[in-house]
Amino acid sequence: MSHLLPLSRVAKLVGQPRHVLQEMIRSGTLATFDGMVELDELLRAFPEVKWDDDAEFRRVTEIKDRAFAKRVLERALPDKDVLVARLNELGDDYAAARALLLHYGNVMTWLDEKIEELEENASAETYHALHAVRAFLLRNLAETPPEAVLAQAVLAQERILKIMSAHVTIQPSGHEFFVDGNDTLLEAALRNGVSLNYGCSNGNCGDCKARLVSGEVKKVHAHDYVLKQAEKDAGVILLCAYAPVNDVVIEANVAGARDIPVQQLSAKVKSVEVFNPRMAALHILAPRSQRLRFLGGQHVQLGINGVSGRYAIASCPCEDRHIEVQIPRRPGDAFADALFTTLNASDTVEVQGPYGEFVLDEDSPRPVIFLAFGAGFAPIKSLIQHAMSLDIAESMDLHWLADEAGHYQDNLCRAWTDALDNFNYVPHAPTDDLDALLTNIVLDYPDLHRFDVYAAGSAAQLEQARAHFLRAGLHEARWFADALDI
Ligand code: FES
Repeated sequence: MSHLLPLSRVAKLVGQPRHVLQEMIRSGTLATFDGMVELDELLRAFPEVKWDDDAEFRRVTEIKDRAFAKRVLERALPDKDVLVARLNELGDDYAAARALLLHYGNVMTWLDEKIEELEENASAETYHALHAVRAFLLRNLAETPPEAVLAQAVLAQERILKIMSAHVTIQPSGHEFFVDGNDTLLEAALRNGVSLNYGCSNGNCGDCKARLVSGEVKKVHAHDYVLKQAEKDAGVILLCAYAPVNDVVIEANVAGARDIPVQQLSAKVKSVEVFNPRMAALHILAPRSQRLRFLGGQHVQLGINGVSGRYAIASCPCEDRHIEVQIPRRPGDAFADALFTTLNASDTVEVQGPYGEFVLDEDSPRPVIFLAFGAGFAPIKSLIQHAMSLDIAESMDLHWLADEAGHYQDNLCRAWTDALDNFNYVPHAPTDDLDALLTNIVLDYPDLHRFDVYAAGSAAQLEQARAHFLRAGLHEARWFADALDI
């Protein structure tokens, strides 16, 4: 009897990112069946994993949680109705497995008696053959083989994962994520950087309507929006009000930069983080009832007391209501002046956006080079965190070419390197000879045609960098740039 597991769950079980498993599939070291991994294949491909010890798995998860600063370390339990439904389902599985075992037991008893019966009148040769078969059966039934012990440990861990989280596949985009704790489908999608359509996020507008293709969901929040009977019959649900009981497939649109409307909201200042006299970050909190929809790499217009400015968002769309904007102090920028001098926690900032199309190509599994010139680190940071939450890139290299403000979030970049084996950070000191520096950077990539490059900086820096990268073999269509006023 085969037991198949989805790739994302295998990744959780073995404590490896999905791209590592995808590489194993590509190289033929891990076999899949319809995108699923068979239990025996899992045990064969990962003989070194200690299935009865999840310490390593917890350690990696904790490092990632801390490095991304995006998840609360304390994971809440699933909603109680969802928990009951999941336990019921497990109970049904257990009952079915138990009934099957009883049946197999009966079959074995019958077989044992039948062999004994046949032995009585058998020739010496047949007697020996039957005796050997019977001895083999009894011996194997009496002792548990080591593979069965391992399989039991894997299944036990998988069961715990299934109680704590459910796997979601979005069609037709193919995005996958887990719904942990008591998150709704919408909350989990946003937390994982998947930009599904939504409006109010509290059951009033109907913008988050989607169709359940397979699996089971439970309503965990009441909603005022009324679904028509025909919609209910067709499996339509509100993503902001439902949570999955088991692994589900949902049909829903994933928004691109052009699909997200410009929104206006008033946000509260959480804190002002001054890195140095030239650079600061503004942390704001969107209201619970009106979060800002945006994609990594986009910009917003901020205003307070009659002064305003447009800046790159530096946080990930997966960070719930928190928005970080990094602002360099430039002459003539009144909003930046206010940020460095008078802005306080709890002040209200008017936010308008998002703007811009400097966003990830989520369909590209190619390795990525991020090129940040000075304060161009802000949109690059947002893109990197978005790419991490989506777990899509084969590898990510960050080249940060500092200006006078320096590598003001150096520690964060180093934490990413520690937490991820496919992330590489290369800081570059300020230079007067940008040409020489760019020549050296592209020399490290003899296979640039395989890469995507995302770059943010001044128009002149970008033009210079683009020329170097294209000359060194990058495909023109794989160059993505955000020209900033820095
Ligand atoms: S987002 Fe408005 S009803 Fe779900």
